[in-house]
Amino acid sequence: MKFPFLKGQLHKSKQQLIFLSNYRAYLYLPNAPTQTIAMARILTGIQSTGRPHLGNILGAMMPAIRLAKDPAHEALFFIADLHTLTTVKDPAQRQTYVQATAAAWLACGLDIEKVIFYRQSRVPAVCELAWYLNCFTPYPMLANAHAFKDKARRLSEVSTGLFTYPVLMAADILLYAADIVPVGQDQLQHLEIARDIAATFNRQYGDTFVLPQAQSRDNIQIIPGTDGQKMSKSYNNTIDPFALEKELKKAIMAIKTDSTPLDQPKNPDHCAVFKLYSMLANQALTADLRAKYLAGGYGYGQAKQALLALILEQFREERQRFRAYIQDPYSIEQQLIIGEAKARAMAEQMLEKVRTKLGYTPTTKNR
Ligand code: TYM
Repeated sequence: MKFPFLKGQLHKSKQQLIFLSNYRAYLYLPNAPTQTIAMARILTGIQSTGRPHLGNILGAMMPAIRLAKDPAHEALFFIADLHTLTTVKDPAQRQTYVQATAAAWLACGLDIEKVIFYRQSRVPAVCELAWYLNCFTPYPMLANAHAFKDKARRLSEVSTGLFTYPVLMAADILLYAADIVPVGQDQLQHLEIARDIAATFNRQYGDTFVLPQAQSRDNIQIIPGTDGQKMSKSYNNTIDPFALEKELKKAIMAIKTDSTPLDQPKNPDHCAVFKLYSMLANQALTADLRAKYLAGGYGYGQAKQALLALILEQFREERQRFRAYIQDPYSIEQQLIIGEAKARAMAEQMLEKVRTKLGYTPTTKNR
């Protein structure tokens, strides 16, 4: 927690006023000694490469939405639709995926009164900043990025867009001077790259960019997929909590388990069904399932049924809201337009600062 003292004060003071300047939000505490304290700005994005899966939702969206509820945070959440061009080429599919991603954010409780919510592509300033940052990014730093290295054996299939993907991500973050970026573990290296690029630029041109921190929860978890590996669209092992019940059941029943016979005790810590269950259930339910595994006489089929029931229960309202949003793309659009106007205004301010530092402003402006 970056501002623990601030949190304490917030709970004590009922009269605090929060006001937003154009670029930074400040807390004004009338009863405290006169002071203004910068709020922490949080920012995160999800690629719209399909419907967000349980990994995205539990690993990033829900924690981010919880953080946004804290009045000490100012939040920007976006749909990383420019990044998807490295894989999604079909325009109709792109539109569908963007809508599904937006619907998932909103269904999970994103409140546009508290969060600036936008499509990355609707703030083209990010592309200009990405170009500037490209020119401060050493080639070996990108050549060492996991996402590139995983594909480097088939270089002919790697686009330059995929190679420079982390630079666009750095631009996403630095453009809005984000302090905290809540992400899953797989994105931590990208955060390091963003910090390195920002520090390089700042050394040469003076204090310009905020060095972002990955959100440092001790329990950043990797949500397993149906094959026990990290849940990921590229591994085809996802669970979609918004799917029709029949499809959801099919995905859960397909979770890989070992061949321990029904009557034998089972190791909960080596089982993806148990891990997923424990991420959604409270302590008592988790302890109960653990005991059933250890006692024997409890089959994986039963555990899967329990997981299905839990997902249906925990996501009941989110599933209803998701369906409603999908049927009402106009309402999604209305919400995004509001956030995009705010995001563009913020982005333009930062970009102007960078242009000036780099000598890209017209000379007449300085007269
Ligand atoms: P993406 O779309 O792959 O994933 C979105 C978020 O979900 C998390 N995540 C997981 N967490 C736990 N377990 C899993 N199995 C799992 N799968 C995915 C990811 O860590 C991520 O936080 N490059 C980013 C999108 C992006 C971005 C940004 C994020 C673009 N610009 C700026 C933050 C800030 C990505 O591909 O995430």
